Amino acid sequence: MIPTPTDRPRRLRASAALRRLVTETHLHPAQLVLPVFVKEGITTAQPIASMPGVVQYPLGGIAEVVSAAADAGLGGIMLFGVPAERDASGSGATEPDGILNRAITAAVDAADGRITIQADLCLDEFTDHGHCGVLAPDGSVDNDATLARYADMALAQARAGAEVLGLSGMMDGQVAAVRAALDGAGFADVVILAYAAKYASAWYGPFRDAVESTLQGDRRTYQMDPANAREGVREAQQDIAEGADIVMVKPAGPYLDVLHRVAAVSSVPVWAYQVSGEYAMIEFAAAAGAIDRERAIAESVLGIRRAGADAVLTYWALEVAGWLRAGRSLS
Ligand code: PBG
Repeated sequence: MIPTPTDRPRRLRASAALRRLVTETHLHPAQLVLPVFVKEGITTAQPIASMPGVVQYPLGGIAEVVSAAADAGLGGIMLFGVPAERDASGSGATEPDGILNRAITAAVDAADGRITIQADLCLDEFTDHGHCGVLAPDGSVDNDATLARYADMALAQARAGAEVLGLSGMMDGQVAAVRAALDGAGFADVVILAYAAKYASAWYGPFRDAVESTLQGDRRTYQMDPANAREGVREAQQDIAEGADIVMVKPAGPYLDVLHRVAAVSSVPVWAYQVSGEYAMIEFAAAAGAIDRERAIAESVLGIRRAGADAVLTYWALEVAGWLRAGRSLS
């Protein structure tokens, strides 16, 4: 005889109103951050072939995207610069009139306090070899020499007006180095977002198109091994001890377990970056008719939040915020 169930979880799924009532995970537009690419020397927005729907903005287009982000109620934008020229030390990163620093100032002016202006703090967009740091004579990435460059870059970004610095280079000691430089120059209030657990991932592929990366080889001597979760927790704890105000896990979707573990122990907010490849995967699968685009987007962002992210960097930030403001549920 088949026993009649007495414990019936389906009871709470019976109507849309009930499901809404018992929804555990909510998302608000203020918990979304939009990554924005700014390219030097262009006058109109350029599409990025591997990221359909995402563009490189000209400097003159920054005010418009900042306004759109503010109107959508986003938490902020994260700026990435694409310079016209690159060299071994990534000088464009520290020059006050470098493209990223100019974009920061343009964005801060346009935002007028309505959203936070954040900047990527890493050398890879500015070096001719494409690595996140400067190279030692043997060709390896020189950790400690890079820290001095990051300290200078942090000061250039803070002077340009950036409120949140996204340290994405995965050098040891980078948070402490940047915090000391900022504090020593009167920028004690500039926030450090540490890309704490950043993995050496194939999911950054489209981003490297977006920033026209010149990288040969890979970043496995500084970004993390995708097999390691405990080490991700260690990186986050170390960054918090060095003074990180926020820690991040990246990519998001393939590393939800790491995100969950970091969120369980972190004393500071934990963010996640839904990276370019995660974006491209859904866009191209949807374009091929394989999945429902909007449902897949909603589910992917919700999953990241459910796993423990307080905020999510996503290329769909504007679109998802629009749905949320229209009262649409993500599940
Ligand atoms: C480094 C940086 C990268 C991304 C964000 N910051 C690229 C890398 O580490 O190779 C990737 C973001 C994405 O794929 O969307 N400046």
